[in-house]
Amino acid sequence: MNNLKNFTTNIDHRNVLTAWLNVPGRPLNVFDDTVLQDLNEIVEYARGEGKSLKLIVFRSGKPAGFLAGADIHRLQGLKNRDECQWILEQGQALFNKIESLPIPTLAVIHGACVGGGLEFALSCTYRVAVDNAATRIGLPEVKLGLIPAWGGTQRLPRLVGLSTALPMLLQGRLLNAHEAARVGLVNRRIDADNVDAEVDGFIERRLNGVPVAPKRRDLKQWLIDTNPIGRSLALKQARQGIAKHSRQYPALSRILDATEIGVKSNGDMESGLAAERSAFCDLLLGNVAPHLINLFLDQERAKKSETWTDGATGIPVKKIAVIGAGTMGAGIAQLAASRGYSVVLQDMKEEFLNRGMGTIRRLFAKAVDKGVMDKEQSERAITQIQTRTEWGRSDDIDLMIEAIVERIDAKKSLFIQADDMLPLHAVLASNTSALPVDEMAQATHRPEKVGGLHFFNPVHKMPLVEVVRTPVTSDETVATLVEVAKKLGKTPIVVQQSPGFLVNRILFPYMDEAARMVTEGYSIEEIDREAKKFGMPMGPLELLDVVGIDVALDVSATLTPLAQEPSPSPALFAAMVRDEKRGQKSGTGFYRWQNGKRTQPSPLTQELLAKDGLQTPKVTLPDWAIAGETFGAIQQRLMLAMVNEAQKCLNEGVVKEPWMVDLGMVLGTGFAPFRGGPMACLEHWGKGHVAARLELLATQCGPRFHPLQEKENSKYEILRTK
Ligand code: NAI
Repeated sequence: MNNLKNFTTNIDHRNVLTAWLNVPGRPLNVFDDTVLQDLNEIVEYARGEGKSLKLIVFRSGKPAGFLAGADIHRLQGLKNRDECQWILEQGQALFNKIESLPIPTLAVIHGACVGGGLEFALSCTYRVAVDNAATRIGLPEVKLGLIPAWGGTQRLPRLVGLSTALPMLLQGRLLNAHEAARVGLVNRRIDADNVDAEVDGFIERRLNGVPVAPKRRDLKQWLIDTNPIGRSLALKQARQGIAKHSRQYPALSRILDATEIGVKSNGDMESGLAAERSAFCDLLLGNVAPHLINLFLDQERAKKSETWTDGATGIPVKKIAVIGAGTMGAGIAQLAASRGYSVVLQDMKEEFLNRGMGTIRRLFAKAVDKGVMDKEQSERAITQIQTRTEWGRSDDIDLMIEAIVERIDAKKSLFIQADDMLPLHAVLASNTSALPVDEMAQATHRPEKVGGLHFFNPVHKMPLVEVVRTPVTSDETVATLVEVAKKLGKTPIVVQQSPGFLVNRILFPYMDEAARMVTEGYSIEEIDREAKKFGMPMGPLELLDVVGIDVALDVSATLTPLAQEPSPSPALFAAMVRDEKRGQKSGTGFYRWQNGKRTQPSPLTQELLAKDGLQTPKVTLPDWAIAGETFGAIQQRLMLAMVNEAQKCLNEGVVKEPWMVDLGMVLGTGFAPFRGGPMACLEHWGKGHVAARLELLATQCGPRFHPLQEKENSKYEILRTK
């Protein structure tokens, strides 16, 4: 064991070997070939020279966690089935060897213990986990479109029972230490303030022959886990549960298949391990996992300030003023306080502040219910929020986030006041959905310190924030906003100021196309069904109802100037607002809504459209067969509208690279992740084929579909056929 690259080891007076894993040059331990080699060396030592050892303890020397699985960059580089197969065999054989060592082994888990990290821990005899909020244990491979293939589908059900293992495998659910101990995934929770002593006590008891406490299962689980009929029922139910998504996410059925083989194999793991290997190679080299892996890595890329600035550092931010305590302001204030910022929440009247604080308390209560934080933490965070109705002394405020009404005059006058009242070093940001941030910047004496910080609704759930830079926003300001977005747990995408920024700008033509089709007499349900079949999380008309038809009307006023041709949809939205059909919030829109839930389409009949002169001639299109799929008229119009707008955004430099568009659309709108995003679709379908199809749509539906054409000097322009 003299040549270990990633482990340091020591053997104590009790003959207990502790191996500390600390992969050099990385913030988090990940498996690569050298870690596998080192582990193999330790195991070989234990089988030979070290066979008198009493126990082997595996611990991580990284504060960030135990072990985060395989190096994803390495996986991404695997283009060859034999190499992939070889790596899987190495890992599986190694973990089998660890499991069959005559010396007991213990994994001491803190922070992340996921994917291959957990599969390694599962091959150990015992596991203990540090009991704090950072501990996260599970097998999230499914989220990358992959299967755990170092024995995870075999050992997890064996240890915790099928009923607990299935959601962990199929949803990638991560457990905290408390849950992990409850289901028997770890043998003991370790007090975070007393880790070494508790680990030592655990070892001492094992050395003295004290058996670990057996895990308890409730009767229903016991019946499922221990009885073949119960297990078959659980597998059948799981199969029904994934049926709707398994075409788009093939990892689901492959995970279930391998699990089933393992469960039915009476303890012989080889056929289950073989199923894991073959599924992993198919998935990794297939169509879906590469997109999900790219999205994961792009998310990491987006979280690095260097991606967006020339190495500038932001100013340190401790205290944030949130102006406007409405839907967005309350959400932003709650998130900021929960992440350790001091917050001043300002609105015009006490009653608005009280309403905002009510929302904030509800959000904290939900976070406590979900185990995201404990009650004490939430109470402490609430005390970090001061409220006020007037500008007051504010020397210690580093950042303002404005979330008042979406009116440029109101925002400009607020920025003038903020410029007067806030210290010179403070950065001023607007949460506007679409208004020109540079007009707000120019109203101040510090335009370089002004930018946009566009959150999505609901703030605590949506993972994306658009950081908007105007032509004069400094790199330091961008870096400050990127850092804050990251600290708030969001993925930032830096976009150049333009109407609707990136996400709403690309989404709008899609919503507009859906509304146009309503005026042409297409059925509301059919339009939404086709969008969902493509892989969108919600149909465009349902989304319009959720956003609010009145909001859509406002947004269309900002975005209409970009349109290539007039649209009937603003008039449709205006008529709906006039008739009190403002969507979910008013109980009717394109659908009827009851207690916040969609019921049936509202009677937006052709007579109603006729009354307002809103009917337009129905356009039909031939199907489009491309890259092994066939898209009908509705899907072509909805999706190509987005793809075309995405290209235009890139061409105008709203963002610089295609991956930024894709990440923004997947995180901001839920755009079918298995397809990778609109630019990945363009790549997959082929630019030439898409351009030809857009030409056809431009002829049949209207010039809004004209594609960008590459000119000789490689600049693009919108091709006009006339
Ligand atoms: P809201 O109407 O719920 O809240 C606005 C709040 O600002 C109200 O409480 C109002 O009293 C307060 N306010 C107005 N003028 C003020 C002033 N001069 N000083 C202090 N407080 C003032 O609006 P919402 O939905 O929270 O939107 C706020 C901003 O966020 C808008 O710019 C909107 O476009 C943007 N946004 C909204 C999203 C949404 O889904 N609601 C999504 C993303 C951005």
